[in-house]
Amino acid sequence: MSEHARKFEAAQESVTKRNILEVQELKTYYKTRLKENVYAVDGVTFAIEEGKTLGIAGESGCGKSTLALSLMGFYFPPLHYGSGSIKVNDIDIMKLSKDQLRKMILGREIAYIPQAAMNALNPTLKIIHFIEDMMKEHRPELTKQQVYEMAAERFTMLHLSPDVLKSYPNELSGGMKQRTVIAISTILNPKVLVADEPTSALDVTSQKAVIRLLKELLDKKLIQSLVFITHELPLLYHVTDDIMVMYAGEIVERGTAHQMIFDPIHPYTKRLMGSIIVPEEGMKEHKLAAIPGAPPNLKHVIEGCRFADRCTFATDACRNGKIGNRHSGDRVYRCIFDVDTLKGWYANEER
Ligand SMILES: Nc1ncnc2c1ncn2[C@@H]1O[C@H](COP(=O)(O)OP(=O)(O)OP(=O)(O)O)[C@@H](O)[C@H]1O
Ligand SMILES: [Mg+2]
Repeated sequence: MSEHARKFEAAQESVTKRNILEVQELKTYYKTRLKENVYAVDGVTFAIEEGKTLGIAGESGCGKSTLALSLMGFYFPPLHYGSGSIKVNDIDIMKLSKDQLRKMILGREIAYIPQAAMNALNPTLKIIHFIEDMMKEHRPELTKQQVYEMAAERFTMLHLSPDVLKSYPNELSGGMKQRTVIAISTILNPKVLVADEPTSALDVTSQKAVIRLLKELLDKKLIQSLVFITHELPLLYHVTDDIMVMYAGEIVERGTAHQMIFDPIHPYTKRLMGSIIVPEEGMKEHKLAAIPGAPPNLKHVIEGCRFADRCTFATDACRNGKIGNRHSGDRVYRCIFDVDTLKGWYANEER
């Protein structure tokens, strides 16, 4: 292809790229048995373009799983919708009934693998049963035999043995169980897959196999986009185009995976990365740095910057002021300080 043709194609592609998932000012909360509210997702705005992969990272309890659950429109007590919008492939899912959501959206437009899903499979049912259940809802015209053939074809395509279909969950290793869950969840070719901690609790070899499978689903266009949630930020470097960091129910920074890992702007991202900025090899094995202190209690409405209590640069303005998003080129971060000031401090620390 000539240089001119290649540029034309790239330009066309950028014009036609659209957001497959769009979230605006989403607020969701838990109502506890003691009638207290936990504001776990508190004004989250982000979008993912078709064909892109996005990682969400942050410490335990910062709201990653709640955000994933909220994206599916799964509002069952104790989780409640507060405000904001969620558009999947341009469909505002909050305007749909539970029935429409189940029939038209879940599994077809957006699929979700909950945290620890592989341990939640009913041990008394063979793997094929879970697929038959899905097909009863979405492809009722198929016979059991046709469902089996379709599933076997998909498993083979993803380098999983079709024998797995006849196995019980407990007959499979952890890594195989997780890959099976991923293959089942994506059998209807959803546009977006939201995977919550799909590699946690797996050994390094199984983690690699899971990541290979996710990449294969993307390469074969069986899914268009991926949201990968983990508390291990460096792992995302190998998987996603962009990374978004959450803290106390908010997004504090978003950038490309490379920017977030090698050039963090927000003090929280910087601290998360700690001493991780090392040569690439082995980066996956690194855990997040421990940050002194703990995230704030999400039962209270928090004034000012939520990270202020743990931030060595915080001033009274951070604690009391209104914190908005700042832009630096294509980066977005939530802090009252500009990039040059923050980078100056970081450079000083490293001296
Ligand atoms: N069922 C629930 N009822 C009340 N509060 C809840 C419930 N589930 C989660 N929370 C609270 O909501 C907040 C966000 O939790 P969430 O599970 O979304 O965090 P996370 O970022 O996914 O953490 P992890 O990395 O440990 O999976 C936490 O303060 C948590 O205690
Ligand atoms: Mg979680």
